[in-house]
Amino acid sequence: MDEVLWRRIEAFGDRLAPTDVARLHRDDLELFVKMESANPSGSAKDRSAFWIVREAVRRGEITRGTTVVESSSGNFALALAKLCRSLGVPFVPVIDPTVNTPTERLLRESCTRVEKVDRPDDAGGYLGGRLARVAELRARIADSYWPDQYSNTDAVRGHYELTGGELVGALPRIDYLFVGVGTGGTIAGLSRRVKAANQDATVVAVDVEGSVIFGGPPRRRHIPGIGSGIRPALLDHALIDEVLVVSERDEVDGCHTLLRDHGLFAGGSTGCVYAAVGRYFESYRGPPPVVAFLCSDRGDPYRNTIYDPNWVATTFAQKRVRTS
Ligand SMILES: Cc1ncc(COP(=O)(O)O)c(C=O)c1O
Repeated sequence: MDEVLWRRIEAFGDRLAPTDVARLHRDDLELFVKMESANPSGSAKDRSAFWIVREAVRRGEITRGTTVVESSSGNFALALAKLCRSLGVPFVPVIDPTVNTPTERLLRESCTRVEKVDRPDDAGGYLGGRLARVAELRARIADSYWPDQYSNTDAVRGHYELTGGELVGALPRIDYLFVGVGTGGTIAGLSRRVKAANQDATVVAVDVEGSVIFGGPPRRRHIPGIGSGIRPALLDHALIDEVLVVSERDEVDGCHTLLRDHGLFAGGSTGCVYAAVGRYFESYRGPPPVVAFLCSDRGDPYRNTIYDPNWVATTFAQKRVRTS
């Protein structure tokens, strides 16, 4: 193990402060949101990036001579960029055209090299292309490390210990947990931790139309953060009771409702989850259950998409023409 790097990552971990759990006022639910958007790089991915890299440093897989290479649609890359910079380790993100413009700008400012895949793969997404580019780069770089966020169980552990530990510490009872799924790391860690503390809790996985995670047909998606062109291996570690699939149009509406009703300026996956909560409890008439979800990232990177009325009108008008 590289002792210098270990001290650096421990220092980074000491600064990774717990995030707040806030109450959102609704008559029908006791609704709580954990503000993962308050993490250092702005998303829940700071937790998985930290745990994955820390364990790789512990195992001697990352030293000061290593280049980290990873495929990401945005947030995991931002988290790794911040972490690797503070460790003094080079990081090459492999991104695609669905990345938000502000996220891409930030990555280009903080990493010496950014790789962008521009052609969709057979599933209509970019994941296959991004992973192929990661493999090419690794073949050319002498000492590289690939976190492999799609199957690295350290991501699950990170969310179990950090995100999940803080959530159950803040809420003595949780009846329902709603989690958006991409790599499955968040839902795997959180579902295990929440069910360990509340054995009757119902875990609802939320996905977006066009994603193949829960067996739906692949289709072009426009908003990064949620959904995937593959069924990620980490999902096998998740304890899921129900699945809700939301359209991208409803995802956008979920974001706008969160902002209008609760003043929460959140990214797409959070809007998707909020839309799923609304749909799930539409005809519920019992005593208000305790419902928890994450604010996985901030709305800022989505100003030119979800929060731009012209983008919304153009994107979803085109879609109607194509599918009719
Ligand atoms: C904003 C946001 N929400 C949700 C997710 C899904 O989390 P996971 O990949 O752990 O399933 C991601 C993943 O990148 C994300 O960036």
